[in-house]
Amino acid sequence: MSFESAWIPVGRADDVPLLEGRSVMVGSRRVAIFRMPTGWAAIDHACPHKGGPLADGLVADACVTCPLHGRRFDVFTGRQVGGDDVVATYEVRESGDGTLELLVPADLMVGAEAA
Ligand code: FES
Repeated sequence: MSFESAWIPVGRADDVPLLEGRSVMVGSRRVAIFRMPTGWAAIDHACPHKGGPLADGLVADACVTCPLHGRRFDVFTGRQVGGDDVVATYEVRESGDGTLELLVPADLMVGAEAA
């Protein structure tokens, strides 16, 4: 059985304040979604260092700071600031009725519900 990428509803935009993150479980992966002044951003929730919860980090200057040891990641590119680590990025959008939707890649589709 094969899957294609699909937009999945993951919550309400109103539940994510400006410059904060929320994590959602999508298929086999937990994803951190951030409301930024210029739009929405989504990256893997687990920090590649030791799994710190990136959705709970402080957000500033388009970056989130891991709450465990302070590595910083650009929430739009997934790249670590001043280092070589990278987290996966995802497309996220707000629908007309205020639902947040994540474009879930095919490899994460197992267990996720398509919109
Ligand atoms: S777990 Fe994120 S910096 Fe260590």
